[in-house]
Amino acid sequence: VAHDFNNLLAVILNYTAFVAEEIAAGPGEQFAAAARDVEQIQRAAERATRLTHQLLAFARREVVKPQVLDLNDVVHDVEQLLNRTIGEDVVLVTDLTDDLYPVLADTGQVEQVLVNLAVNARDAMSGGGTLTIETTNVGDVDSGGVMLRISDTGTGMSDAVVQHVFEPFYTTKLDGTGTGLGLATVYGIVTQAGGTIGLQSREGVGTTFTIVLPTTDEVAAPVETPAPFERAPQGETILVVEDEEALREVTERIFNRGGYRVITAANGIEAVALAERHDGDIHLLVTDVVMPHMLGKEVAERIRAIKPGIDVLYMSGYARPVLASQGRLDRDVNLIEKPFTASTLVKAAGQILSGHEMNTTSPIY
Ligand SMILES: Nc1ncnc2c1ncn2[C@@H]1O[C@H](COP(=O)(O)OP(=O)(O)OP(=O)(O)O)[C@@H](O)[C@H]1O
Ligand SMILES: [Mg+2]
Repeated sequence: VAHDFNNLLAVILNYTAFVAEEIAAGPGEQFAAAARDVEQIQRAAERATRLTHQLLAFARREVVKPQVLDLNDVVHDVEQLLNRTIGEDVVLVTDLTDDLYPVLADTGQVEQVLVNLAVNARDAMSGGGTLTIETTNVGDVDSGGVMLRISDTGTGMSDAVVQHVFEPFYTTKLDGTGTGLGLATVYGIVTQAGGTIGLQSREGVGTTFTIVLPTTDEVAAPVETPAPFERAPQGETILVVEDEEALREVTERIFNRGGYRVITAANGIEAVALAERHDGDIHLLVTDVVMPHMLGKEVAERIRAIKPGIDVLYMSGYARPVLASQGRLDRDVNLIEKPFTASTLVKAAGQILSGHEMNTTSPIY
């Protein structure tokens, strides 16, 4: 179901972006109202995207790519987003200890933890307040961990509520604003990373969540030279394999506008036949992962046999059982998560074609 939803959202988001572009190019004020309406559609689709990813994370179906991390870096990266999320009445204070021990975790997931906790804090501080994020080392570098503490000065919780907060679908927000998955997801992410989470709360005073992630002795991968953001296509040909017709068209259109030559196939069998008939080079295969008849992985293997040296980019929002071993994404697999935007897709293709390893994209948060 999540797979289908992500396909639909990719279509909605991208066609909306096309419309938004045309409106923006139109004359003067005439379409201002339409532009605002389109923006509402985009915002709703982005909310739906977050919800799908929340569900996937909760069901532990999300692709996780644990890396050696400095938690301070993640906090820095997400600070702006958090400020926007909590609004003007809540002040964000960060108190970060230098030289944190390294931990092994998925950046996107740690971001999700911070966002979920911040959103809860905001909801508990409707009259304003302070949200504090602290990091400190605990124990020594070999056996200790890094503590991440998120506190608010909000309503706090009664003991009865505290008992249930981590349960899936437990919510006190009865007006339809809560699904009760926020903390259940946080709990899942933290424990999956080998960490612990606890909380202290006092009614009328506030709430503090304390997370400890274990240190890792894995060595951080060398920093890759950042790939150029824009790369002019050099007349390369891309083969797109996607069973969902609307999404296939979106993808074709995005690459065409990006300056690539595109051939498309609705399934693996068609793709193999196309590749056999195609005289020139095919530089990049962009394929869905989960398709009827032939999975993306097999499509890639068979196309590689016909066009050796072809690069492969998988598109999926639900790839874990098919691409990953032991729940982790194999290191040499290029994957773009659905729903993607035009710019992330073109950028990913450019990175791969210029010989850079791409970073797994995070969904829109
Ligand atoms: N910082 C907080 N202060 C006060 N109450 C909180 C706080 N965080 C969580 N809660 C309580 O715990 C409940 C469960 O939180 P959780 O994040 O799991 O779900 P939700 O926020 O209700 O919905 P969702 O996160 O799925 O939108 C909330 O409904 C709220 O009652
Ligand atoms: Mg919540």
